[in-house]
This record gives sequence, C-alpha cells and structure tokens, in this order.
Amino acid sequence: MLNILVVGGGAREHVIAETLAKSGDICSVMKNRNPGIARMSKEFLLHTETDVEVVREFAVSNGIELAVIGPESALEAGIVDVLKKAGIPAVGPDRAAARIETSKTFMRDLMERYNIQGRVRHRVFDSLEGLKEFIEELGQVAVKPVGLTGGKGVRIMGATEQLRNAEEAVDYARKVLDKKIGGESKVIIEERLLGEEVTIQGFCDGKIVVPTPAVQDHPHAFEGDHGPITGGMGSYSQPDGLLPFLTQGDYNTAVESMQLTIDAMRKEGTPYHGILYGQFVITKHGPKVVEFNARFGDPEAMNILPLLEGDFAELCMDIAQGTLEPAKVRFRPRATVCKYVVPEGYGVRSVAGKPIFVNEDAIRSTGARFYYASVNETGEGILTTSSRSLGVVGFGDSIQEAEQMAERALEHVSGEAIFIRHDIATPPSLEKRIRHMEEIKRGPG
Ligand code: GLY
Repeated sequence: MLNILVVGGGAREHVIAETLAKSGDICSVMKNRNPGIARMSKEFLLHTETDVEVVREFAVSNGIELAVIGPESALEAGIVDVLKKAGIPAVGPDRAAARIETSKTFMRDLMERYNIQGRVRHRVFDSLEGLKEFIEELGQVAVKPVGLTGGKGVRIMGATEQLRNAEEAVDYARKVLDKKIGGESKVIIEERLLGEEVTIQGFCDGKIVVPTPAVQDHPHAFEGDHGPITGGMGSYSQPDGLLPFLTQGDYNTAVESMQLTIDAMRKEGTPYHGILYGQFVITKHGPKVVEFNARFGDPEAMNILPLLEGDFAELCMDIAQGTLEPAKVRFRPRATVCKYVVPEGYGVRSVAGKPIFVNEDAIRSTGARFYYASVNETGEGILTTSSRSLGVVGFGDSIQEAEQMAERALEHVSGEAIFIRHDIATPPSLEKRIRHMEEIKRGPG
C-alpha cells in the first residue's frame, strides 16, 4: 500500500481521499477537522494548506510516496515545487504551471499566442483609461480580477443580481483596481458569453489530456438560478458523459481546447501535470473558455470520482510521472446528482458555528454517498463554518433517478440553520436549460 497525502479539508478532498483509500494509506493536511477525511486518515495535521514548508515536513516524516493537492491556494503557494524537491510525486501543477488558474492574463495571453479555439474578446486594464469605451464597444461584459478570489470576484453584466449597466461595470472595475481584489491592481474586461455553462475536468500528464464526463454546476445561491454567485450549490452528470443540452461535437471541441492548452504549456517550458478544470459556455458558435482551473472542481469532483473504475492511485502516479494511458481511464456509465447542504445565508452572510446532524447509516441505506465539506468536528458535534457543509450524491440510470436518490438521502441531514437548493437537476430545471440552449443556437449573432 502506498502512503498517500491528501491536501485540503473540503468535500472535494473527502471524495479524493475516499477514492485513493482503496489503494493506499491516507494522511492529510487540512485547516478544519473534516470528520470524513479525519476518519480515513492514518495521520492528519490541522494546519493551513498554504504553509508549504509545514506540509513538506509532515509529508517527509510520514514517508509519503504520492501527494494529491485539492485547493488552488496551495498550488499558488508552490506546494508541488516543494514536494517535488523532496522527491515526492504530486498531482497538481507546479507554481509556474498553476498560473493557468492563478493569473487570468497568463491564461488569456497563452490562448491568444497559440491561437487556441474558444477564445473571447478581452482587454486587461491597470487604470480606468479607455475602460468605459471598451465596455461600450463590447456591449455586455464580464468584469474579472486577474488573480485568485475563491470564485467570488467575477461580476457579469445583465445576469441576475449582478451588474445592471455599463456604469455599474465601470464602478466594479474601479473597485477591483482600488482594492486590489485578486492581489493586484489589474482588471480584465471580457465579452459576456451567452449560453449554458459546462465543466470538463481532464487528467493531464504533461503531454496529454484524458477527459472525464461533463458536469454542470449551479453557482447561484438560490433556486431558479437567482442570488449571488457561490462556490457551487450542486451539480449533475449523465451516463453517456454528455449533458441534456450538450452535443458530442461541442464536448469534443471543448476537449480539443484543453489539449491545445496543455500542448502550449509544454512548448512554454511549463508542462502541466494535474487536473485541468475547463469551464466553458456553450455558445451559438461553440464552446468558449470561461476559465481554466488547476484542480478538481468542487462539487464536480463528487460527480466523477465515485464512477472511476480501476486504481486511482496508479492513475495519479501516471499523471505525476507522464505515463497516462487513455485506455486505462474508464467511468461507470451512471448519472449522478450532487446537492450541497450549506449554512443558511451562504453567499451573503453565513450563519456559522451551528450543529449539523448527519445520519450516515440512513444515507448509505438509500444508495447515496455523502462528503463532508468545511465543517468542524468538535466535542459538541459537527459544526458549520461560513462555507459549504456537506455534499450528498445520488446515482441512477437517469438524472431523474439520481436526483430522487439524492433527495431521499437529504431527508437524513438536519440542522437549525442549513439550506439546500432542491431544484438542482429536477425535470423543470433541466428543461429550462435545454430550452435556453435551443434559443441560443437559434438566436442572432
Ligand atoms: N465549481 C466551481 C469550481 O470548482 O471552481
């Protein structure tokens, strides 16, 4: 059995640890005491994941032979560089390659330089000069800080409860510049993409991308896709790896953009080993890249890892060592629906520190799985934090079956201050998305 380190304490890392535990002994570093990860760890350290020297010492003293990194903040802090120097293979790009997520200007420039399909019209500004004119030229825009913001920095014009007009877009751009949101005084203005969002996660070994089933996340906090953008309230996938509105042609085009990006990274001298998370909008003119992330998605990891066949630890070694074989990567053809239990007020002002009760055996008896997220196991039970609490995943031969299983499982989770988006992957929600895609494909432009 390999000694494997999992870095991070969310539901994404819980599902990573669960999948790896089939072929290795798990050690973990996390800042909160996640009960699921703690229980399956031979040793765990409660410490911030960005303190890379402490993580390295913990890894070395526990004889770690493989590390899998969950959060982007640890990648930005150079955790993979440090582990590699200590002779520990890691799944996750080094600091230079992680710029695909940590710097939006790096990502957009790379796509331009290598003429990669899925590009969007954009410009980077370090002052307000010419910014209003550019917004007016594009019409509808997205305003993005250049650096990491934990998924909370992007504002979109015309989207519900976001930027109502060009003035508000300029005001928000000014705020990004003045407050250095994302770490530097730079803002990127991009054309707003009209269509449906899709996530495709790929395993990358420096040379090739092996794609996984497509997933659709639900970033808005409230039912009906209203409210503030969050880290993601839930997600679904279907047995054939596509989505109800996603064609095989559009999926293939999106994957090609990912492969071209990996080719470009290699040519730049920064080969990419790890998980490439492609977020696309499927527009009238095909898939456009919203962003690339340098890690599994959360919740999207919970849709794909439970379906993975074979030995995940071996696959991780192949990713780290550049020996991936596409034929060895297979997924069970099942639908999945993940719904997140979050603290009340999540996305605006979370009610944190409240108990959450999870009847684990009863959830298991429904056939669903559960993954603890940013909760803390204490002497008084499991307490919520300001972030997401628990992901519940249902499975089935159809999205409808998987959705019903997830709902049956959620009956066994309670708490005085929790919230769930029950509309995720229900028939009306799926129909809305199919209709939207049809309108987009028929529409002008
Ligand atoms: N689900 C959004 C993300 O992982 O970035």
